[in-house]
Amino acid sequence: MTELSGGPALPQERRVVTAIPGPKSQELMARKQAAVAAGVGTVMPVFAARAGGGVLEDVDGNSFIDLGSGIAVTSVGNSAEAVVRRAAAQLERFTHTCVMVTPYEGYVEVCEELARLTPGDHAKRSALFNSGAEAVENAVKIARSYTGRQAVVVFDHGYHGRTNLTMALTAKNMPYKQGFGPFAPEVYRVPVAYPFRWPTGPENCAEEAAAQAIDQISKQVGAGNVAAIVIEPLLGEGGFIEPAKGFLPRIAEFARDNGIVFVADEIQSGFCRTGRWFACEDEGIVPDLITTAKGIAGGLPLAAVTGRAEIMDAVHSGGLGGTYGGNPVACAAALGAIETMRELDLNAKARRIEEIMKPRLEKMAQQHGVIGEVRGRGAMIAIELVKPGTKEPHPEATAAVARHCHQAGVLVLTTGTYGNVVRFLPPLVIGEDLLNEGLDVVEEALASLG
Ligand SMILES: Cc1ncc(COP(=O)(O)O)c(C=O)c1O
Repeated sequence: MTELSGGPALPQERRVVTAIPGPKSQELMARKQAAVAAGVGTVMPVFAARAGGGVLEDVDGNSFIDLGSGIAVTSVGNSAEAVVRRAAAQLERFTHTCVMVTPYEGYVEVCEELARLTPGDHAKRSALFNSGAEAVENAVKIARSYTGRQAVVVFDHGYHGRTNLTMALTAKNMPYKQGFGPFAPEVYRVPVAYPFRWPTGPENCAEEAAAQAIDQISKQVGAGNVAAIVIEPLLGEGGFIEPAKGFLPRIAEFARDNGIVFVADEIQSGFCRTGRWFACEDEGIVPDLITTAKGIAGGLPLAAVTGRAEIMDAVHSGGLGGTYGGNPVACAAALGAIETMRELDLNAKARRIEEIMKPRLEKMAQQHGVIGEVRGRGAMIAIELVKPGTKEPHPEATAAVARHCHQAGVLVLTTGTYGNVVRFLPPLVIGEDLLNEGLDVVEEALASLG
């Protein structure tokens, strides 16, 4: 089977024809080490040549089953037809004017789509940016401007980016924060309902975690000082943690009762990834503001803050922006990505991916005590690895599974506060055979742990 995306006739197959990394990748890696800052790390040390559908081909001719989507970005596949068509047409018309100097229709169209697609039928406005971190920073700016308050509440295991303010919002020290302080003030972290690791068990998790979070906010910060509560409805870098059902609605209600802006960070979980346009829809949450990026534009850099008109419009004219935010080519790509999501019904595809992956991974969990939990929704699925018979995190086994997969031609990513989660983020257009073959390799990798 072949796919047009990624260039003509990119075979949709796993193919390992050299050692991993192959000689051309090794040569390029030597150049990378000599020219690129050491802080820019590499998950899998091969250089990309082409990608599309469910595969990524490297410069040595190896073809990897892509279970990472460039960290949840290429949900519509790499070089998706509508993305390329619309972005190429825009490239020929103009590449940049700066929306704050001379606006263009594509920017408005993306904001109109965001108003249609995000939860709630209230009046909405959007502002566009380049990266997820920039969107989160701007959501905080907007919430502060609207409320006249300063404090921001975030959660254990949360990840919101690598800029100074978003580092402060992010929970995990290594590698995101180590040595980079001082961090922005007025950021407070409270517990999240992490069922697998909740001390009194998953049954009590939602209620107890919400009570603790609310108590800490009330006693340590003062609800009246809080501008925003920022949370990922399905936590990404923290380890694909699904907050226990009931936790999010309780926190959203607390925010509403106290005039706090509730911000859903859907940068990783949004745009069909979990089988819905946005993960917070699963519990009927209507956030005041929602941040999006990654999957929104099929691989081009675009991010957004969307929210209630009265909150978004609280900021004075000129208070939001940046030279490139909402670049016309990125906007055209986003319209192509959204067109693809609708036409191919990628929400249904994500749900189908869950239907295939979850039972197979559950079965592996029965056979391999190293899998502590299988969790996630849609095409955002993970296994948390532990020392068998305990809940002690097992980062070494996690790294070994990832390494085995890479060597065998399957691109997987790891994640988690404890570095012990293998996460799967396939492009939503991946073929079912390819997905199953990828899972076969994961199974081999688990078996190889001995
Ligand atoms: C939930 C969440 N928020 C924010 C970010 C930061 O986005 P970016 O890397 O585009 O700045 C990420 C990136 O992984 C994310 O997963």
